[in-house]
Amino acid sequence: MSYIEVRYPAEKPAFYALLAEQLRLYTAGENDATAVLANASATIRQAFADANWVGFYLVKGQELVLGPFQGKPAVTRIGFGKGVCGTAWARDEAQVVAEVACFAGHIACDCNTHAELVLPLHRADGSIWGVLDMDSVVPGYFTAADRDGLAQALGALPPLP
Ligand code: SME
Repeated sequence: MSYIEVRYPAEKPAFYALLAEQLRLYTAGENDATAVLANASATIRQAFADANWVGFYLVKGQELVLGPFQGKPAVTRIGFGKGVCGTAWARDEAQVVAEVACFAGHIACDCNTHAELVLPLHRADGSIWGVLDMDSVVPGYFTAADRDGLAQALGALPPLP
């Protein structure tokens, strides 16, 4: 399989429809979680010109552990309720942060980051298996439309164990 460059439209519904199609294209038929999440992080990073970090943290016991990602090296473990990621996990609620400097307890990984979006990811039974974390150098980069669009687009991934 080779990667074919696509041009993402600015309009959000069309953007997220194409992102879902791309996620499906690069993960369909794969049941290995590392392989699926590695291609998912790469696919999402390609779609967002101003995202400096895109990746997954996976629930392991009482911590989130770093999974496949694109970007600079990052913190490997995040406790329940800690930082933006741990908060999304503990509250089972997506976090859209316009300026990370204003989020109490934010865990800094790249000092160029301003905005962050974290989505909890659920199994069919509703339990959380991990989070998607995205960072941007642009303050206010992520919106509620991105939160909803990404949540929907991630539905294109194959079921993970
Ligand atoms: N900022 C995150 C930590 C992970 S890095 O952004 C990759 C947080 O506060 O949970």
